[in-house]
Amino acid sequence: MKILVTGGTGYIGSHTLVDLLENEFDVVSIDNGMNSEVSVLDAVRQITGRQLTHYAIDLCDKDKVDEIFAKENFDGVVHFAALKSVSESMSQPFLYFRNNLNSLLNTFEAAKLYGVKAFIFSSSCTVYGNVSESPVDENTPWQEAASVYGRTKQMGEKIISHCSSETTMQSIILRYFNPAGAHSSGLMGESPKNMAQNLVPVITETAIGKRPTMKVFGTDYPTRDGSCIRDFIHVCDLAAAHTLALHHLLQHKQKDKIDVFNLGMGEGVSVLEAIKAFIGVTGQNFSYEMAPRRDGDVTAIYSNYSKARQILGWQPKLTIRDIMHSAWQWEVNRTKKQ
Ligand SMILES: NC(=O)c1ccc[n+]([C@@H]2O[C@H](COP(=O)([O-])OP(=O)(O)OC[C@H]3O[C@@H](n4cnc5c(N)ncnc54)[C@H](O)[C@@H]3O)[C@@H](O)[C@H]2O)c1
Repeated sequence: MKILVTGGTGYIGSHTLVDLLENEFDVVSIDNGMNSEVSVLDAVRQITGRQLTHYAIDLCDKDKVDEIFAKENFDGVVHFAALKSVSESMSQPFLYFRNNLNSLLNTFEAAKLYGVKAFIFSSSCTVYGNVSESPVDENTPWQEAASVYGRTKQMGEKIISHCSSETTMQSIILRYFNPAGAHSSGLMGESPKNMAQNLVPVITETAIGKRPTMKVFGTDYPTRDGSCIRDFIHVCDLAAAHTLALHHLLQHKQKDKIDVFNLGMGEGVSVLEAIKAFIGVTGQNFSYEMAPRRDGDVTAIYSNYSKARQILGWQPKLTIRDIMHSAWQWEVNRTKKQ
C-alpha cells in the first residue's frame, strides 16, 4: 500500500513516516519546507532502514499536486501540511486561510480524482474553542474558534464533510490535543524553521540557553494554579494512531464516509505543572516569567479518547515524563550539531 504524507518533513509528519515505514507501508512525502528541513528524512531512513520518495512542492499549486497524484497512484493520504501557530494566525489571517484551506482543497480533490481510498486529516482540539468543561469527547459542541488557526481546522473538517458526498473515498479526522516529545533514537524531534511556539520546545530551548527566559502566558485563569491546562500526548503515540486509522479504512472496517477521533492522553496538565515535570525529569532549572494572557489561547481543555481506544484500538503508552525526557534528549542532540 502506498501512502502520501503531506507535511512529511514536519514534526508529526516525520514521526508518522517512521511508524508507517515500520509497519510495511510504502510512503511518499510532500513538503515545501516552509516550516521544516528536508534533512529530517535522513533520520527517517536511518531509523527505519527504508527508502522513501520526497517532493518539495507547495500544495497550493494545484497543477503540481495533480501531477504527483497522476504519477504515484496512492492508496491513502495523510494530510498534515498546514501552518499551525495560533498567535501568528491572528496577525496573518490571509496567510493562514490561504495556505491551510487551499492546500487541503487541492489535496482532497486530487485524492478524489485519482481514486484514493483513505484520507486522514490532521485536525486539532482547537475546533472545540473555549469549552466550559473537560474532558471533551467528539460530540462536544464547537464553540466559536478562539483563533484563525482554529477556524481553519473547523473549516477543514467542514470541507471534508461537504465534499465527501462527491467521492467514494472514506476519511478519518483526527483531533490532536498537544503533541510533544521526540523519537526515542534522539535523531528527530520538534525542530521548526519558524520560531517554536509550542510549550515543550520553548521549555527545552530555554533550558539549553537558546532563549534567556520564557513566558507563562496568563496566571489568572480559573484553573488550579492560574495557568492554562492542556493535554500533552507523545508524538510517537500520535504517529501510531495514523497507522491504525489507515489500517481501519483500508481493511474496510469503517461503515461511514467520515469518522472523527480525539487523540490525547485524557489528562489535564497545567503549563506550570509541565514546567515542574520537565525540571523533575531532567534536573535542568531555568528562568520563566509570568506574563499576561495571550490572544487566542483557551483556558483548559483535555480529551476523552475512549472512541479511538474502542474503534481504532489506540492506547497512548508514553507518559509526560517520557515526553520531557525525549524532548530534552533531542534538544541536547540537535544543539550539539548546530
Ligand atoms: N503540533 C501541534 O501542536 C498540533 C496540534 C494539533 C494539530 N496539529 C496539526 O498537525 C499537522 C502537523 O503539525 P506539525 O506540528 O507537524 O507542524 P509542522 O509545521 O512541523 O509540519 C507541517 C508541515 O507542513 C508543511 N507545509 C505547510 N504548508 C504547506 C504547503 N502549502 N505545501 C507543502 N507543505 C506545507 C510545513 O513546511 C511543515 O513541514 C498540522 O496540520 C497542524 O495544524 C498540530
